Amino acid sequence: MPIYSLNINGAKREVDVAAETPLLWVLRDALDLTGSKYGCGVGACGACTVHLNGVPTRSCMTPVATVGRKQVTTIEGLDGKGRHPLQLAWLELDVPQCGYCQAGQLMSAAALLKENPKPTDADIDGAMSGNLCRCATYTRIRAGIHRAAEIAAAPAQPAAKTGKKVGA
Ligand code: FES
Ligand code: FES
Repeated sequence: MPIYSLNINGAKREVDVAAETPLLWVLRDALDLTGSKYGCGVGACGACTVHLNGVPTRSCMTPVATVGRKQVTTIEGLDGKGRHPLQLAWLELDVPQCGYCQAGQLMSAAALLKENPKPTDADIDGAMSGNLCRCATYTRIRAGIHRAAEIAAAPAQPAAKTGKKVGA
């Protein structure tokens, strides 16, 4: 099988897999990055969302051979210390229920905030419409994104003592 050299969360990783292998399986099975989840496998739920060069992308629908030199960011690489404003907001507002969809939710929300640091409800609903949550945490997700926007806009605070991570 061909060997693919991928840029994953800022590090070069080599994998020996078939060309058509979805990136999601490479992440989960070959690289043990299990934060990205399998939901539908057909691009319809968003549970597998990662960033390719900062763009939210369904990794279940992305053959590894098409990734090339693009920077892949997974939930594990969103913030090395688990302190992305979204992760802090998610903890503060206790956003997840079962948690299964939340890595994908966070990756889509992170891309939104990067483009639009102060999104409206309509902006959020539009950007997040492809991420489904069977626990229906949509109201808390929306509140969490607003709270993350506030955290990101606030002056830097001294690091808190908790090392708890969200979404990984
Ligand atoms: S598992 Fe990829 S969109 Fe559902
Ligand atoms: S928190 Fe359970 S599916 Fe979203």
